[in-house]
Amino acid sequence: MRMYDLIKKKRDGGILTEQEIAYMIQGYTNGKIPDYQMSAMMMAMYYQGLNEKETLSLTMEMAHSGELLDLSAIHGVKVDKHSTGGVGDKTSLALTPMAAACGVKVAKMSGRGLGHTGGTIDKLESFAGFRTDITTEQFLSQVNRIGVAIMGQTADLAPADKKLYALRDVTATVDQMSLIASSIMSKKLAAGADAIVLDVKTGSGAFMKKEEDAEALAREMVRIGNGAGRKTTAVITDMDQPLGFAVGNALEVREAINTLSGNGPEDFLELCLTLGSHMLLAAGKADSEKQAREKLRGVIADGSALKKLADFVAAQGGDADMVYHPERLPRAAFTESVCAGSDGYISRIICDEVGICSLMLGGGRETKEDVIDLSVGIVFHKKKGDAVQSGDVVATLHANDKEKLAAAKNRLLRAIAVSAEPVSKVPLIKRVIT
Ligand code: URA
Repeated sequence: MRMYDLIKKKRDGGILTEQEIAYMIQGYTNGKIPDYQMSAMMMAMYYQGLNEKETLSLTMEMAHSGELLDLSAIHGVKVDKHSTGGVGDKTSLALTPMAAACGVKVAKMSGRGLGHTGGTIDKLESFAGFRTDITTEQFLSQVNRIGVAIMGQTADLAPADKKLYALRDVTATVDQMSLIASSIMSKKLAAGADAIVLDVKTGSGAFMKKEEDAEALAREMVRIGNGAGRKTTAVITDMDQPLGFAVGNALEVREAINTLSGNGPEDFLELCLTLGSHMLLAAGKADSEKQAREKLRGVIADGSALKKLADFVAAQGGDADMVYHPERLPRAAFTESVCAGSDGYISRIICDEVGICSLMLGGGRETKEDVIDLSVGIVFHKKKGDAVQSGDVVATLHANDKEKLAAAKNRLLRAIAVSAEPVSKVPLIKRVIT
C-alpha cells in the first residue's frame, strides 16, 4: 500500500477501506508517513468527507494507536466530559470540581487550544507549576482520592489523534464533522470512562456553524460512544457569542474561580448546571435533573466546589493559593477598551473572530511550535441583546505587545455590531441527544 495512492483515492471521492485507514494511521503514528502527506490527506478528507463506516474505522484505529486506559482501579462510575471547542469555553475548569464535589468520579482527558478555540490544558497551566503530564498511576489514585484528575494526551494515549490534532490546527482542517467526531471519540474511548457527556457547540464560534451540522456531529459521537458500551449524552449549546465574558487563558481561569465563588456569569453557570446534571445522572449521584441542579448549586454555595478546585490544582503540582488569590494569576501589561459607536443593542459578536483576536494577542498558536501568552485576551462587558449607549465599553483587550494590541482591536471592532432595534436573546441550551 502507498500513502500517495490513498491520498489520490480520497481526493477523487473514493471510500477508504478499514485496512487502508489502519495503514495510514499506523504509518503516521510511527513516523513512516510524513506530516506533508498527512496534511494532504486531511485536506482531501476535509473536502470529500467520510461516510459512517470510514468515521468509525478512523475512530477505532486512532483509539487503538496507543494504550487503552484501564480505569477499573477507580471505584464507581467514571465520567468524562468534552466540548467540541468554543470561545471563552472554560467549562471544564468549573464543572469538573463541581461534579467531583457532588461525588462524581471525574476522569478527564483534555487538549490544548485548536484553531480559534482555547484548550483546557493551556488554561490550567495558568496555575504556576500545574502539570497534566501525569502518570496513569497518579491519574487513577488522584481520581480515587479527590474525585477529579485531568491529564493531557500522553504520548501513549491515542497518539495518532495527538499528532493529527496538532497538524489539523495549523493546516485549516479542523472544522470537518467526521474528523472532529473521530478525534474526540478516539481519545474518549482510549481514556476509558464509563460515561461521556459531550458539549457540542454551534454558532459563529463553533467548528459546526449550523445547528443541523452540530446535531449530525452529536448523533455521530453518541452513536460511536454508545456502540462502544459507554453511556454517551450530547448537549447542543450556543456558541454564537463567547461563553461568559472572558476569553483568554488566565482571564478564563479567573472567571471560572468567580463562578465557583458564586459570582459567575449567568450563561456560564447555566451551562455548568446543565452539563453537570447529566454527569450526576450518569454517575447515579442524582435521581432527577432537578435534584442534580440543586446539588450542583449547593456545592457552590457551601464552598466545597472551590475547595475541590484548590485540591485538584495542588494534586497536580499547581499553586493552589492562586485559587483563593486569583489576582496572582498571570496578568497582561496593557488594557484597551473597545466602545460602542452608537446607541442601540448589541446585535452581533462574531465569535470565531473574537477567538482569532485572542490568538493575535498571543493567546493561541499560529504554528505547532508557538509558546502561548497565558495573560492576554478579551473581557466582554456586554452580551448579545444588551442595550448600549455610544461610548459604553463593550470589551477590554488585555495585551503585552502594543502592535498586536492595535491589530486585535481593529479586528475586534469589526466583529461587534450595534443595531438600533432591540435584539432577542438566543437560548443557550438547544437540545440533548442520548
Ligand atoms: N476537539 C477535539 O478534541 N478534536 C477536534 O477535532 C475538535 C475539537
